[in-house]
Amino acid sequence: MKIIAGNWKMNGTRANLIDMVTALQKVDTENNVILCVPYTMLGVKSDRNISLGAQDVSAHDHGAYTGEVSASMIADSGAKYVIVGHSERRQYHNETNDTVRQKAAAALSAGLTPIICVGETMEEKQAGKTMEIIESGVRESIPNDIDKNIIVAYEPRWAIGAGLTPTSEEIAEAHKLIADTLTAMGLSGTPVLYGASVKGSNAAEIMSIENVDGVLVGGASLKPDDFIPIITSVK
Ligand code: PGA
Repeated sequence: MKIIAGNWKMNGTRANLIDMVTALQKVDTENNVILCVPYTMLGVKSDRNISLGAQDVSAHDHGAYTGEVSASMIADSGAKYVIVGHSERRQYHNETNDTVRQKAAAALSAGLTPIICVGETMEEKQAGKTMEIIESGVRESIPNDIDKNIIVAYEPRWAIGAGLTPTSEEIAEAHKLIADTLTAMGLSGTPVLYGASVKGSNAAEIMSIENVDGVLVGGASLKPDDFIPIITSVK
């Protein structure tokens, strides 16, 4: 069983989501399918096999934070998951590991499973800092003293939406480091997803790599014709 999570980013309508859920109902799979959609679509009724998630969450519980949405509000919509620390949040909203940890803690306290993203930029990769950035990302973005109700996503930031993917060896090395770091933190068994330019033609190969427990899919999660082949590429 793998976890196949879609990240719609700022795309789509409620009608698109209903079409996707309808199409996914016909798919015979044991994989855990999650769709992380804009807040306005979270109330759409999903199939029992498909969970919905948000793409960001406030670090605050409630109060005078105009424009923010709290973890308990997301849970109240019926959603089960929330992405935190996506590279676009880190890039455009200056989110740091510190912010991400607070948001993940807020998600956990409302009973949501945070999908915590880490990954290196092209600059960091070229400076030979990939492993350092990944390890500090994992150590600093995950709250202390938690149960295991989290998912980690490794997303090389330079590869997102670029049609580029690291080599299988690079993915294996990154995922081994993340698995070892999680074990050292008492979180062994935490699922670790790979994300960035996943599509039907590379999903099976990526998910066959050791320590890759699923994928986080951006562009190719928007249309059933692109997303379903990813879901059915592994049993
Ligand atoms: P992509 O995005 O699949 O379009 O590269 C992945 C992500 O941002 O989660």
